[in-house]
Amino acid sequence: MTKSTTVLAIASDHGGFEMKEFIKKKLIDNGYIVKDFGTYSKESVDYPDVIHPLAKAINDGEYKMGIIMCGTGNGAQITANKYANVRAGLCWNEEQAMLIRLHNNANIISLPGRFLPLDQAWKIVEVFLSTNFEGGRHIQRVNKISKILK
Ligand code: RB5
Repeated sequence: MTKSTTVLAIASDHGGFEMKEFIKKKLIDNGYIVKDFGTYSKESVDYPDVIHPLAKAINDGEYKMGIIMCGTGNGAQITANKYANVRAGLCWNEEQAMLIRLHNNANIISLPGRFLPLDQAWKIVEVFLSTNFEGGRHIQRVNKISKILK
């Protein structure tokens, strides 16, 4: 992924806030441009309120890739996957991050803010951003995910 020309979308609730701030800084330090959809403090928020706007923007093609977090990563991922053009994968290791790109052409990665060390989360994000979709037999599988919704 070309860093300076691709804007990455990022969002979390309070459960993922610390991780979001850490990952955002890492992305910027590594030359990426970041659109932060919030939340902007540790104050409690409902994860759908911050995840829906990011997921809709990815769904509408405004951003190509997104990174989302909540305490477990589940609420964020479940919310994001309501959109037909979103493929959000929950990951807690680098191999999963590689496989959601290779096999699922995931455009959003969801991370468990309360269950991963920050450095590990960054390694996972790096794999997600640097792995391309494998295509081949996975194309028709991915196309079938949202077929009846379109
Ligand atoms: C917030 O306490 C927590 O429920 C949320 O971050 C997330 O884990 C939900 O799936």
